[in-house]
Amino acid sequence: MRVFILGLHSAIGRHLTAALGKRGHRISGTSRAKEARKDLLPYLDDYHSLQLGDAADPGWFRNSDAVIYLAHDHDRNAAQRNVEGTRAWYRSAGSAGVTRHLFCTSYSAKPDSHSTYGAVKFELETFFRANRQWLVRPGLVAGPEGLFGTMLRLVRRLPFLPLLDGGRHPMPLVAPASVSAAVIYILEHDLAPGNWNLHRPDPVSMKELLSRMRVLSGSHCRFIPVPSILPLVLLRSCEVLGIRLPMGADSIAALRENRDLRRPSHLADLKVKDPPLDEQILRLIRTAPGGRDA
Ligand SMILES: NC(=O)c1ccc[n+]([C@@H]2O[C@H](COP(=O)([O-])OP(=O)(O)OC[C@H]3O[C@@H](n4cnc5c(N)ncnc54)[C@H](OP(=O)(O)O)[C@@H]3O)[C@@H](O)[C@H]2O)c1
Repeated sequence: MRVFILGLHSAIGRHLTAALGKRGHRISGTSRAKEARKDLLPYLDDYHSLQLGDAADPGWFRNSDAVIYLAHDHDRNAAQRNVEGTRAWYRSAGSAGVTRHLFCTSYSAKPDSHSTYGAVKFELETFFRANRQWLVRPGLVAGPEGLFGTMLRLVRRLPFLPLLDGGRHPMPLVAPASVSAAVIYILEHDLAPGNWNLHRPDPVSMKELLSRMRVLSGSHCRFIPVPSILPLVLLRSCEVLGIRLPMGADSIAALRENRDLRRPSHLADLKVKDPPLDEQILRLIRTAPGGRDA
């Protein structure tokens, strides 16, 4: 199968490219970098540098069996760029004859979302659903990047960490390998259009997650309960002032909104079993720069 990935260099994109490549599929794709990452070259037939908002040449997509949409600009002012840019790429690929499109949305996609991220993902979900395409909704991906990796680094480095709203927020976690396996299952079985929630079926609270990170990394970090509205206001103010921090206000807005949200997991329908949580945390600890004792 020939698969075209928009946002090849994203954490999910890198994992998926290698996983598809190892199964003999051929990949083409884009990222903003001038050149493709060296570790992906063995799997790549073609690579282009492309930004959301720029036109994708329909010729790039010719002969692709499916296009996967992973690029997302997290800038707080990029809502329109994400929505219009992604739709424009869809039209380019469609004009080249591609009929299978898989959009990577989020657990946080909601019509009434106060996070820009959730609102943009919902708008694009609506677009891809109306066009009878595939939607996958990963939960929080348990990789070294993003919120999960940031939480692990903070637990390991800081003596104290705020525990938002007492840590009772449910965290819909999923391993990067499970996301790749689910996407590959959908592509290889050419499933009918639909949407699949990709997260482990057993909910873990933020407190449980941070506690496991603390135990497994041998950290002595202490958790201080804090109402989530405080860091939300602080992070929003930093964004307005142009100050960049390891965590964006949108992540906290999404956490607050998802407090009472329960989506069913579809991993089992796609024959995917997420690895045990401790195993995922330990793998990250071992592979982090400096390893277990860093
Ligand atoms: N990680 C998660 O927990 C999670 C959960 C649910 C859904 N998702 C979705 O899965 C997709 C991949 O997420 P990820 O966490 O692996 O990576 P990510 O950090 O969200 O990266 C997004 C990708 O978008 C690209 N990008 C950013 N701004 C862009 C722009 N203006 N024009 C073109 N490309 C741009 C980046 O490209 P460059 O590499 O070229 O800089 C990056 O590779 C995203 O759509 C994300 O929303 C992720």
